[in-house]
Amino acid sequence: MNHRFDAGAETPDKTALIFEANDPTETPTSLTFSQLKTLVSRTANVLLSHGIKKGDRVALYLPMTFDLPISMLACARIGAVHSVVFGGFSSDALKARIKDSGSKVLITADGVGRGEKVINLKAIADAAMESLEEEDKVDHCLVLDRLNPEQLEANPTASNRDPTRDVDFKAAQAAASEDCPVTWMDAEDPLFILYTSGSTGTPKGVLHTTGGYMVYSGETFKNVFDYKGAPSDIFWCTADCGWITGHSYLAYGPLLSGCTSIVFEGVPNYPDASRFWSTVERHKVTQFYTAPTALRALMREGDEHVKKHDLSSLRVLGTVGEPINPAAWEWYNEVVGKGNCPIVDTWWQTETGGHMLTPLPGKWPLKPGSATLPFYGVAAALIDPASEEELEGNNVQGHLCMKKPWPGMARSLWNNHERFEEVYFSQFDGYFCTGDGAKRDEDGYYWVTGRVDDMLIVSGHNIGTAEVESSFVGHDDVAEAAVVGFPHEVKGEAIYAYVTLNHGVEGSEDLRFELKKQVAEELGAFCRPDVVHFTPALPKTRSGKIMRRILRKIADPSETEKLLAGDLECLGDTSTLADSAIVHDLVEGLREPC
Ligand code: WT7
Repeated sequence: MNHRFDAGAETPDKTALIFEANDPTETPTSLTFSQLKTLVSRTANVLLSHGIKKGDRVALYLPMTFDLPISMLACARIGAVHSVVFGGFSSDALKARIKDSGSKVLITADGVGRGEKVINLKAIADAAMESLEEEDKVDHCLVLDRLNPEQLEANPTASNRDPTRDVDFKAAQAAASEDCPVTWMDAEDPLFILYTSGSTGTPKGVLHTTGGYMVYSGETFKNVFDYKGAPSDIFWCTADCGWITGHSYLAYGPLLSGCTSIVFEGVPNYPDASRFWSTVERHKVTQFYTAPTALRALMREGDEHVKKHDLSSLRVLGTVGEPINPAAWEWYNEVVGKGNCPIVDTWWQTETGGHMLTPLPGKWPLKPGSATLPFYGVAAALIDPASEEELEGNNVQGHLCMKKPWPGMARSLWNNHERFEEVYFSQFDGYFCTGDGAKRDEDGYYWVTGRVDDMLIVSGHNIGTAEVESSFVGHDDVAEAAVVGFPHEVKGEAIYAYVTLNHGVEGSEDLRFELKKQVAEELGAFCRPDVVHFTPALPKTRSGKIMRRILRKIADPSETEKLLAGDLECLGDTSTLADSAIVHDLVEGLREPC
């Protein structure tokens, strides 16, 4: 029997979504639950009329307008599997995701304003679609017109349309029927694929299914953000739907719970550093959810941007994406929350579907920088990597694992169940391995220490060092590259690349710029390395393994002074290096501008 659950059906006239455009002068718009349902149904009919049926994949490469959650929900309505690709990704990244997911329809836009900049999404989408092999090509591309005449004039290729493939999204939507019966799904049928970087190889197509994911995103939403159905609650998650945060706490969790929420197209510092706070004041936001990197950037701009706005509507403040440093936590608590709003530091992952370690507002004391305790039903464990044994009791540190399943856990990696088992279940028998390290303190509180594998978290984005390295090596002048992270005031972590050039090639400022540009173009602008350090060789063990430990120390600005003074103690044991002279060259390289 199908249990009918029609979110928002009892409150058709309640506001479901409020749009906050990149350009703050754009006329404000909102959608009620019934208007949202109509648009979702029309869009679902557009997809059906373009040959999409249950189980087919649809790629979405869209700005953060209503059209993105609408397109996601339209897929869900007819049982199609959405694969959202963040609008900051490059054409190569989009191409790889279309190919791996086997998407036959792409929904995109002509472009999007992001702060002062205009991103020509159509040109990027065209490059991706045109470079796909014949058998991987999409059949149809639905194009949303988003740019204004002035933006179009500056980006003429955004208007390019291929009449054999491209369809006007808005016109098709308007012409479609608003009546679209739901395609009933089994709880374990796929709902969506979302790609996330792996520490090796290609991005992983994390697969979430219908029942468990929706139960978990809805349930964590209500509990963690203290949503009890008050009509005055206005929830704002600043994340883009291109990430899991936007999936679970914009497209699914709040709407499943019948809560009003904000869709934000802009960036935190445009038109100025008060954007978040003016928006909170204008819409009387009650629960606000953002990333530590955004808070650190805004904190630097001074308290007056916050203080000039009335933030008294705020009740709960949330963070996600990386550990929040205590200074940013305190600022969030005191300056933004005026000491009245519990901070929910939510630890979770694309793979977990929803919050795993998190405070429940008001339920237990908070500690700045700790995601506190597991959500109910979550069986967190710390494993000692050496003994592979679970660590009992408090005051222990190890690899963060889960010893029981939970409703929102990923079910597979698209087209690669073997890799799913290998990455998450093979390291410690009987445990789901998160890839993060954590401590459990004397009170049983968890402190996530960061990734234990070769992953970086730059401005809250998970980036595999291997991906960045292979992008460098793709350049004709580069022989070898090794990428590590270094602490960065705003981004949390930034990319430091050690690059060995081919014989006869001289490192120059121009080449450095070219290499950074190549990585940004290939992987997306958020992957742009901060530092490119040219070196004659990389520090390797005799078996040829790069000693990243040494590279991390040399990249760390807090060690530079000592290293340059000849104090190499922080590098630890370098005796296993095949050629220990390289350390001297690397340290000397710090004198060069990078
Ligand atoms: C990785 C997952 C979950 C949505 C955004 C990122 C890090 C996430 C926290 C937090 C410390 C955190 C972890 C995790 N992370 N939230 N509150 N405290 N670290 O999703 O791209 O799948 O990244 O982000 O390292 O493994 P993702």
